[in-house]
Amino acid sequence: MSAITADTARRLPKAELHLHLDSGFEVEDAVRLAEENGVPLLKEPPDAMFDWEDLQEFLTFLDWVLCLPRNGEQVASLSYSLAQRQRRSGVSYTDMMVSPIHWKNFEGPLEEFIAAVASGLEEAERDGCPPVYLSVSISRKHSRAEAHEVLDTMLAMGHPRVVALSIDGNEALVGRTGDRFAPVFKRARANGLGIRAHAGESSGPEGVWDAIDLLKTQRVDHGVRSVEDPELVEELVERGIFLNVCPWSNVLLGLYPDRESHPIRTLVDAGARVTLNTDGSGFYRITLEDEYVTASEVYGWSTDVLRRLARTSVEASFCQDPLRSELLAGIDAFDFGD
Ligand code: ADE
Ligand code: ZN
Repeated sequence: MSAITADTARRLPKAELHLHLDSGFEVEDAVRLAEENGVPLLKEPPDAMFDWEDLQEFLTFLDWVLCLPRNGEQVASLSYSLAQRQRRSGVSYTDMMVSPIHWKNFEGPLEEFIAAVASGLEEAERDGCPPVYLSVSISRKHSRAEAHEVLDTMLAMGHPRVVALSIDGNEALVGRTGDRFAPVFKRARANGLGIRAHAGESSGPEGVWDAIDLLKTQRVDHGVRSVEDPELVEELVERGIFLNVCPWSNVLLGLYPDRESHPIRTLVDAGARVTLNTDGSGFYRITLEDEYVTASEVYGWSTDVLRRLARTSVEASFCQDPLRSELLAGIDAFDFGD
């Protein structure tokens, strides 16, 4: 079959689950904030700042760029713009992550930072953007105590926009941390929060085993390196674990040389519950509709497979009824025009 068009991909109801505010705002915003704050650019010309060899170079860039927003207004405006971009891509619901460890120059306590992110999302929704909910990320670099402090703040706030505890960072740098973070994830679950974990990108299959067995998450962000362990893939299928996959991000950050060699096809063919995501639509200069179009081009997927990916994105999300049922019904009834 021929590939779907960007317009069809935009109209298809879908959720995006793997998207960081940390990397989900526009390149132009970063350059403008640097100018406003009188901070010299990391590299000249500005475009050179957006060429990363690997995840670590990218995370170093994030540490620089996220020192730029200082106050609640700036942070709220970034999350507002992200929700607008989700609307432009036809994303009906988003589970967005934010990782406070990077935002070092924010002038205020963590609760003010979280409230600022949430207020931008709320204002956007009032202005007609689709809902974006928030997962607050701890970092693999955090100590056990620091991770509990982040969760303490989340629980004390009880903010209705904050739906999950997440974890990200470079596992290749810090090694296995499942035991360190298992208690904080257990406490998040016990207090009714959703949980999700980055694994199987900067870690191999062992990181995914730890995420599902120690952190006990049903939602793995990336998870693509699971293909290196067939027993793990079987287990993921058996347990119905969701893998929130970001093909372009993995190519951009050097995990795979190109889309053709990306393991998403193997995972889908094996029956894993895969969703398609951008990871960071702004800094990665990709949109979610591009991901659907490119997947249909490169992997030759039928509209049945694309419909299943969209359906899984809603099933894997923290989206609640009635929106959840409405989206699933909209996906089932969607006319691809084929
Ligand atoms: N934080 C932001 N993007 C990330 C990624 N791709 N992997 C791990 N941590 C991240
Ligand atoms: Zn990510």
